[in-house]
Amino acid sequence: MKHLLTLLDYSADDIRHIIEISLQLKSDLKSSDTREPLLNRRVAAMIFEKPSLRTRVSFESGMQHLGGSFLYLSGNDVGWGGQREVIKDFSRVLSSYVDLIVCRAKSHQSVVELAEYSSCPVINALTDLYHPCQALADVLTVMDDGVDLSQQKIAFIGDANNVSRSLAIICAKLGIAFSIGAPSGYQFEPDFYASLRAEMPAAELSQTTDPKKAVADASFVYTDVWTSMGQESEQAQRKAAFDGYQVNADLMAAARRDAKFLHCLPAIRGQEVTDEVMDSPHSLVIQQAENRMHVQKGLMTWLLGKDDV
Ligand code: CP
Ligand code: NVA
Repeated sequence: MKHLLTLLDYSADDIRHIIEISLQLKSDLKSSDTREPLLNRRVAAMIFEKPSLRTRVSFESGMQHLGGSFLYLSGNDVGWGGQREVIKDFSRVLSSYVDLIVCRAKSHQSVVELAEYSSCPVINALTDLYHPCQALADVLTVMDDGVDLSQQKIAFIGDANNVSRSLAIICAKLGIAFSIGAPSGYQFEPDFYASLRAEMPAAELSQTTDPKKAVADASFVYTDVWTSMGQESEQAQRKAAFDGYQVNADLMAAARRDAKFLHCLPAIRGQEVTDEVMDSPHSLVIQQAENRMHVQKGLMTWLLGKDDV
């Protein structure tokens, strides 16, 4: 049974294959291809313990394009995560009704447990540790820009969080240079960083506290909120810690000429990024958000064994 909990479990070939299917499905959609839908009558369930715009709507729309449907379960309503019944029972029952489960959970361990007992594939739609669907869409966006991946460097400025962790993993797997500029105390945990280096010794990975050093020679500059969902009580402390880490015109000027800007969204304009950068012709954030849908279509068809596109 294949799941997507973290991209650490996927090979570079798996990732390339998913991206290839996604590109095909994206092009079919743009050309109004009228083939038999690949996931006809398939039913998926999504459980969200945290808010979402992009993830929820892109999965639902993508599944509709493929001929299937999604049921939305609010985590609170179904008492998921042990509030009403243990995950083991919840997962065995839910997976007997549906073909796929998409879950956004507060704790990564909940998604791991959900997958352990599920009889259908489980997709991590963001946890405290990883956001793999976002990283797949990020790479699709970089590829849309028509570039040779091996010549690219993505610099992430900000917190070593779910988004930057997944981005570092996908970059290491696909041979894209990656650097993170984060204040001390907000960098990758030594264990995570060491295991990436050990597993992929050829990967070009670096981390620094100097944002200008991180973006030097970067073709893509990426940021995310300083305070993730669930960390609201740390907001003031984080705002102070990340002072000097805003992606603004001055920082973009320290990257490669014509470097592009990426953000997983939602963004707090005026905090981690300025309006000027968000709205500049170099900003790819809207294409990046759209690519969530295309890449998740590729992912769902692959997980359900219908990837013969
Ligand atoms: N980037 C992302 O996952 O957005 P949502 O939280 O709106 O789903
Ligand atoms: N790091 C952010 C990403 C939101 C898509 C969060 O977890 O809130």
